[in-house]
Amino acid sequence: MDRETFLFGAATSAYQIEGATQEDGRGPSIWDAFARRPGAIRDGSSGEPACQHYRLWREDLAWMRWLGLTAYRFSVAWPRILPEGKGRINPKGLAFYDRLVDGLLEAGITPFLTLYHWDLPLALEERGGWRSRETAFAFAEYAALVGKAFKDRVPFFATLNEPWCSAFLGHLTGEHAPGLRNPEAALRAAHHLLLAHGLGVEALRGAGAKRVGIVLNFTWVEGEDAEAVDRADRYHNRFFLDPLLGRGYPESPFTPSPQVPIYPRDLERIAQPLDFLGVNYYTRARVAPGEGVYPVRYLPPEKPTTAMGWEVYPEGLYLLLKRLARETPWPLYVTENGAAYPDLWAGEEVVEDPERVAYLEAHLEAALRARAEGAPLQGYFVWSLLDNFEWAHGYTKRFGLLYVDFPTQRRIPKRSAFWYRERLRGGA
Ligand code: FCB
Repeated sequence: MDRETFLFGAATSAYQIEGATQEDGRGPSIWDAFARRPGAIRDGSSGEPACQHYRLWREDLAWMRWLGLTAYRFSVAWPRILPEGKGRINPKGLAFYDRLVDGLLEAGITPFLTLYHWDLPLALEERGGWRSRETAFAFAEYAALVGKAFKDRVPFFATLNEPWCSAFLGHLTGEHAPGLRNPEAALRAAHHLLLAHGLGVEALRGAGAKRVGIVLNFTWVEGEDAEAVDRADRYHNRFFLDPLLGRGYPESPFTPSPQVPIYPRDLERIAQPLDFLGVNYYTRARVAPGEGVYPVRYLPPEKPTTAMGWEVYPEGLYLLLKRLARETPWPLYVTENGAAYPDLWAGEEVVEDPERVAYLEAHLEAALRARAEGAPLQGYFVWSLLDNFEWAHGYTKRFGLLYVDFPTQRRIPKRSAFWYRERLRGGA
């Protein structure tokens, strides 16, 4: 394994760890508003205080060093930089990421920056959010700004994290902010997210950013009925992948209809050349023919499953990376992979999490096997560095290598952290 070029990291996102939602001029985001809705978050919590990373980032950086990470994937909070989404800049917001990036570089850890991990400035939501084409242009303004500030220090910029979730969980199922249940809104949001990506790529390149890419979530789909598998694959995987490859939207009940205005150059802009694809992988879906507009039925997951109810299926990561190696021209990074388990801490120095160790071990093996067979995989990031605010699940699901005791904000390494550290010491 070439330690110089292959990145071994951990990932986080701003809203899930930072807290300090009202400090230093940060504007409100759609998640602050959504979390206030009764019933939206399982434990009634919000991204306040999360891991208080805004205050404790130095300690978290010390943990990264202890782990021996060579890279750290984090996201910038758009509402910290542009509290109203566009226009007025908040220098204190930029200063926070300045300190963090400098700290990472001093520690020899490569910063891997995501621009949008779901925390849309609320002011933009009030003007139509991702349903509005204007939001894509506001994103380009934000991307240019962050690109200019960090182009010399950050070698990797990802535009969006999992636009599938922003579009469909945010606007179709209503599980995520802004909590809409409207198919047309979901398709508009999806198209505008992709357009934002395209405009963002142009803006980042214009600002001098070196490597620019996007992070998508993939679900490995299997089943006996080829048509059902294909339908589910179009929805879960190809809806965002195909337009990025210049193939337009795949035919499906989710293909944008005439109500979604696609302008002549949009598809070209979306299909700009990229420097990498970020791959988030957690589980597979087993499907069979179903009924209705989207005739797919989801079969129950096979055992073992994680605390999310997601099947542990490392082979899916291997198969996915092999497939992406065939179908796409880009260097690949596993930008998220990990598992939630009901970790318990009663004052010990180490939290025992044998299931997570087994999950990570098997998935890392699957990823490296795909690489050994020629997949252009150049990095692997565990989700997550620390237990954090798991969106609609609040603090009830723990994904961290580090256990966080939220009342005291103490970090306790889990056995999986020791495991990762040993792997990295040995050159993985
Ligand atoms: C992904 C998200 C990440 C985290 C993990 C468990 O979909 O990108 O923020 O919630 O799932």
